[in-house]
Amino acid sequence: VSAEPQTVAVLGGGTMGSGIAQASALAGCDVAVLELGDVQADAARVRIGRGLDAARDRGGVDASEVAGARDRVRITADVNELADARLVIEAIVEQFEPKFQLLGRVDAVVSPDCLITTNTSAHPITELALAVRDPGRFAGLHFFNPVHAMMVVEVVAAEQTRAGTVDALSRFVERLGKQPIPTKDRPGFLVNRLLVPYLNQALKAYDDGIATREDIDLAVQLGLGYPVGPLALLDRIGLDVHLDATRTAYDQLRDEHFAPPPVLARLVAAGHLGRKAGRGLYEYDEESG
Ligand SMILES: NC(=O)c1ccc[n+]([C@@H]2O[C@H](COP(=O)([O-])OP(=O)(O)OC[C@H]3O[C@@H](n4cnc5c(N)ncnc54)[C@H](O)[C@@H]3O)[C@@H](O)[C@H]2O)c1
Repeated sequence: VSAEPQTVAVLGGGTMGSGIAQASALAGCDVAVLELGDVQADAARVRIGRGLDAARDRGGVDASEVAGARDRVRITADVNELADARLVIEAIVEQFEPKFQLLGRVDAVVSPDCLITTNTSAHPITELALAVRDPGRFAGLHFFNPVHAMMVVEVVAAEQTRAGTVDALSRFVERLGKQPIPTKDRPGFLVNRLLVPYLNQALKAYDDGIATREDIDLAVQLGLGYPVGPLALLDRIGLDVHLDATRTAYDQLRDEHFAPPPVLARLVAAGHLGRKAGRGLYEYDEESG
């Protein structure tokens, strides 16, 4: 990956894909976003347009930069239109089979030296790497949500990933104005390895009645200097999403710190999924939710 403008293919224009597409276009790359069909492509176009408008409204980028970025993004449902990509970032649904299938299809149309990556949070990079002809140029590129605000990207080396691939991807992350953190391919990589047990402990403290939900969050904010308390953060992440993450990590690591606390499954069963459901550990009215 050189410092020259180049073509990035983003697979999936959902929450993460649209954020990654915006960041890449604002950094001067030409971006092709692959979506499932016309309806999803239209939705992705709206999402990316709104995201770029928001970037302008936050300041830091002016209207002409936003217009330039908008012009550099094209959205397609045809894999063949990704042929000129120099870097592929996969960000479709978090399911192994669709990812594996699509990575193989895209690998067949891009050039042999194109770098291919996945934004998966949970699937082993080493197994997804088997979808492409040359796993040495495959890696994880794990962005955080929301992409524009989160300044770190984990560059996850599969067993097969070549050192040059990690270096080139780290330079790309820097070009987006973010900090690359090279990690090994282990469950949760680095950040979720630290975050998941912490959130589980907060849930247990809440369920044990050690303190009120408000005081648990306040104690962490004021005592540890975190910007958001763990229970409020869980409501933002979605309790169902966290349940899935901690279950998957527990299945792979068999470490009790990752075992889903019973209160979590109970809240999810009750439909208390967090902000998106209007109720999680806290209740939300329409305006705040
Ligand atoms: N949401 C997060 O907080 C977060 C954070 C880090 C990583 N991730 C990972 O990023 C990936 C995407 O997550 P998301 O939250 O953006 O999901 P999302 O559901 O918002 O978006 C997925 C998009 O992919 C499209 N899609 C699905 N199958 C496709 C296919 N075969 N071809 C082309 N497009 C397809 C869908 O139409 C949808 O627009 C997942 O692997 C997830 O684990 C998510």
